[in-house]
Amino acid sequence: MPEGSGPTSPRRRLREGPVGIFDSGIGGLTVARAIKQALPRERLLYFGDNVHVPYGERSEEELLLFSEEITRFLLDRGAKLIVIACNTATSAALRTLRERMPDVTFIGMEPAVKPAAEHTRTGVVGVLATIATVKGASLASIVERFAQGVEVIQQAAPGLVRRIEAGEFDTAETESMLRGWLEPMKKRGIDALVLGCTHYPLVRPAIERILGPDIRIIDPAPAIARRVEQVLDEQDLLAALGQAGDLECHTSGDADLFRSMLVHIGLEGTVQEVHWSGGTISPA
Ligand code: DGL
Repeated sequence: MPEGSGPTSPRRRLREGPVGIFDSGIGGLTVARAIKQALPRERLLYFGDNVHVPYGERSEEELLLFSEEITRFLLDRGAKLIVIACNTATSAALRTLRERMPDVTFIGMEPAVKPAAEHTRTGVVGVLATIATVKGASLASIVERFAQGVEVIQQAAPGLVRRIEAGEFDTAETESMLRGWLEPMKKRGIDALVLGCTHYPLVRPAIERILGPDIRIIDPAPAIARRVEQVLDEQDLLAALGQAGDLECHTSGDADLFRSMLVHIGLEGTVQEVHWSGGTISPA
């Protein structure tokens, strides 16, 4: 029997472990959906910190505390890899988490400015993101490194995540809110819009109506799923042939509401409520 494949080998146990994924709420489910499509045999363990949403209006210190505890929660449940399916938490916490937990593999999200800048014909691209992401040093550094000579319009979208979390995916109010940010970008000539928050693919139909067919919308979720596959492959941690994938969700918010969101997003999975107390997460 080859090394690492015996029924009780540590490597095999690791391979059977889930991919840990977290976000401030339901936004990261757009990333979970892409991972599930690309890697249907993987078990996915998702944490939605719905009680603290929106992250985009919180301080970096708070986001680091939340992100570190959620990472521990996922690792305690056997996660073999941590996907920070949240641009805001990635920008605030990823670097410090990597320093504090050097043995853990993290994959973070950052606005896909690079592909937008590489393919622009007008020389103008847009990024729609949370306030924290737009203000953060991470986006500024990405623009500096990957968009030399390209105008990158960075637009914060305060209130949009709250609306999405309330299930207002395609209402007239949501569309009018989006119109207020997107019409001016359109007038300035963008030919690509980067969705810089994992919640925003959930309002993509309204965004498409406003931008029309000539402006490319970039959702980084499929690229993140490919990165997850590549990293698991490199570490020999891909789920074995024949393993049935599943999705286990934990939310610090309301489980029934979370379940209805899962259905809307087209995912099947279990949902359990957890609670924060004194900076730690415990089962409800
Ligand atoms: N979905 C998250 C992101 O990608 C956070 C949104 C929020 O909670 O403000 O930025």
